[in-house]
This record gives sequence, C-alpha cells and structure tokens, in this order.
Amino acid sequence: MKTAETSVPVHPLLADRWSPRGFDRAHSLAPDQLAALLEAARWAPSANNSQPWRFLVAQRGAPEFDRLTAALAPGNRAWADAASALLLVAAETVDETGRPRPWALYDTGQAVAHLITQAQADGLATHQMGGFDAAAVRDDFGLAEALSPVVVIAVGRLDGDAALPEPLAARERAPRTRAPLRSLLLTPAQNTELPAA
Ligand SMILES: Cc1cc2nc3c(=O)[nH]c(=O)nc-3n(C[C@H](O)[C@H](O)[C@H](O)COP(=O)(O)O)c2cc1C
Repeated sequence: MKTAETSVPVHPLLADRWSPRGFDRAHSLAPDQLAALLEAARWAPSANNSQPWRFLVAQRGAPEFDRLTAALAPGNRAWADAASALLLVAAETVDETGRPRPWALYDTGQAVAHLITQAQADGLATHQMGGFDAAAVRDDFGLAEALSPVVVIAVGRLDGDAALPEPLAARERAPRTRAPLRSLLLTPAQNTELPAA
C-alpha cells in the first residue's frame, strides 16, 4: 500500500490508488473485469456528450499485446509486459463532419480517470504510460487520422515481489508525493481556507 498522505480524508479509492510497475504475470483479466473498466469509461462526462474516447484492448498472450509492448519506451517495456492487458487509449479529436473537438483530450483523460478508479475498486492495479511511439502505433494499427493516441494503460494484479531493475525497484518503494495543496490555487492563499498540507 502506498496510501496518499492527504490533508483531509479523501475516498480510499483515490488515496490508495498508485501506479506500480510490479505486475503478476500469472494473472489474466476475466471478461467481466475488462467490461467493467470499459463501462466505467463509457459513463464519463464529456463535452456535448461527444464521448471521444476509444480503446484498443490487448490481453497478454494476444498478438496485439506484443505489438503494443514493442511500441513502448524501453523503460516501460521492462515491466509492462507482465501486465494482464495493455489498453491503448485514443481520442477522436475531429468529429464525423471534420469539425475539431476542442475537449477531446480532456474528455478522454476523464474517461481514463473513471477507468482507473473502477480498476482500483475491483482490486486491479493500473499504470498509465505516455512513453510509447504514437506514430508507430498509428501505423501498426492503422488508426484513422481523426484519432490521436494518448496513453497506454497497463492493467493487472499487483505483484509486490516482482523483480524490477534499478532505478525502477527504488521507485516502486518510494513514497508517493505531490505539490502542496496551496500551490494548486490561482487565487491568493489568504482568500481560501485550507488545512496545511
Ligand atoms: C499521461 C501520463 C503519462 C505517464 N507516463 C508514464 C510513463 O511513460 N512511464 C511510467 O513509468 N509512468 C508514467 N506515468 C505514471 C506517472 O509517473 C504517475 O502517475 C505519477 O508519478 C504519480 O504516481 P501515482 O500514480 O503512483 O500516484 C504516466 C502518467 C500519466 C497520467
């Protein structure tokens, strides 16, 4: 557990979620577990209910999994191949009439927030990765021009004893940190009562 040290209590689903690199190679996702993740994303809010998020699901053992793994940055490939599934997340940034969707990336990130919170509720670990070759993925999977690859999510069961190379092993043990709560505010701090964090 790497529970966040929060200034006031927040929901345990949020406080307890973290992004591990140790995944259990023996675990695979049940169809219902996978469906719950996608269903959670599906019900995210979005601008004009445009729902611009798209997912390419690759379960370990499937050829798509190896193709996605090959597109990861080497530092991610070192551990993410033990995940039960890799989900490529793309945003449809242009609608069917060719009009840009200015909120597509925002909406897609919010859908991912839903997905990873559902995963946490279901006892699954997730780790998002921006470190992948988006152009290679676009080519390999023949993604339409309107789709922007955003992130790859590793999903699986945490393995706290997984062997990781340094410096990843040290990062796995390191406490989670965040900027102070007050630093998020654009207004002068004295106008907003906040506990010291
Ligand atoms: C858009 C995005 C891209 C990320 N890219 C990577 C990545 O390529 N490799 C990696 O190990 N972690 C990556 N992360 C994980 C972050 O480093 C991690 O969420 C952050 O350090 C906070 O840690 P926590 O999720 O455990 O609270 C990414 C996270 C996000 C949201």
